[in-house]
Amino acid sequence: MRAVICDRLGDPSVLKIQEVPIPEIGPSDVLIKVGAASVNFPDVLMLTADYQHKPELPFIPGMEGAGTITALGADVKNWRAGDRVIFGVRPGAFAEYVKLPSSGNLMRLPEGWSDAEGSAFRVGATTAYHSLVHRAALKPREVLLVHGASGGVGMAAVQLGKHLGAQVIATGSDDARLAVVREQGADLVVNLRTADFVSIVKGLTDGRGANVVYDPVGGEVLEKSMRAAAYGARLLVVGFTSGGPTRIMSNHVLIKGLSILGVRAGETARRAGTDFARDYAVELPRLAALGVMRPHISHRFPMDRVADAFRVLIERKVIGKAVILMSS
Ligand SMILES: NC(=O)c1ccc[n+]([C@@H]2O[C@H](COP(=O)([O-])OP(=O)(O)OC[C@H]3O[C@@H](n4cnc5c(N)ncnc54)[C@H](OP(=O)(O)O)[C@@H]3O)[C@@H](O)[C@H]2O)c1
Repeated sequence: MRAVICDRLGDPSVLKIQEVPIPEIGPSDVLIKVGAASVNFPDVLMLTADYQHKPELPFIPGMEGAGTITALGADVKNWRAGDRVIFGVRPGAFAEYVKLPSSGNLMRLPEGWSDAEGSAFRVGATTAYHSLVHRAALKPREVLLVHGASGGVGMAAVQLGKHLGAQVIATGSDDARLAVVREQGADLVVNLRTADFVSIVKGLTDGRGANVVYDPVGGEVLEKSMRAAAYGARLLVVGFTSGGPTRIMSNHVLIKGLSILGVRAGETARRAGTDFARDYAVELPRLAALGVMRPHISHRFPMDRVADAFRVLIERKVIGKAVILMSS
């Protein structure tokens, strides 16, 4: 089969396409013919070993995809050949075939969804769900401030926040991309380059501020968010696309009675027996079937243009998700 291989660290130009054997399945595995796989910011970080999970070289990148089950181990009872699925791997999605345990990160592809849409669902949806439901316990009519809202995990949080009944204020750096965020449900969008989100949030809430802040960006955006937060607000630390970890002033945390909540959607799911594992199996498919967190895809590439798929993400051109189509 053809697969994308990373055999040395560097920028996306290190990625190459190689012929490798189709994985052999064990008795409890399924083999999936991958239709599409999507690019996430952690994929970029893994190329330079800047992500918390550092796969050994050489490795096949890609954390999520969608496709069709083509073969099953003898002990697999819950899936059949021909089932269309969404899957998560750690990593390995950028290949024509993926092997997974049948009890692993697998979910049925919702009716009417393309492989491309399915491939772009899992990371955004699990991160948004874990953040807003498990960590922040977002309530209807609360004010939710979402940063990085034009990106993968940000747009999923806009969609889910709206579904949960919050008033959603979304930020980003480009008007055209923010127009799509507005279409995806945000009540108000703020361009960070041209407007001050702190005064806008304060103005909209009679000076109170946002109840929940969802932040995949970090840096100055997180620092300013302390001022945009209401008394008793929950601040979700989701990621650091702006460059690296941010110092949080403990006096602001104390004076405003803030809760700073770290989000590790994948790690929590790996710890068996948590609410998250159950919700992954039950609640996310239900939300997907309702059309909540249906991904918006701005870029599609064939496998041999995988480096371009990484580049559009790095250059902040993506609206929602960029996807690699395996068989085009
Ligand atoms: N905690 C978890 O469980 C979890 C799970 C998945 C991902 N993450 C993290 O969440 C973050 C976002 O991931 P993603 O896949 O959604 O990324 P993405 O699709 O690239 O979106 C990131 C957004 O961040 C904004 N941004 C601000 N400064 C940036 C910069 N210097 N470079 C690039 N983007 C910048 C961009 O919006 P504008 O261009 O509009 O400013 C962009 O839309 C990453 O840090 C990732 O590691 C965390």
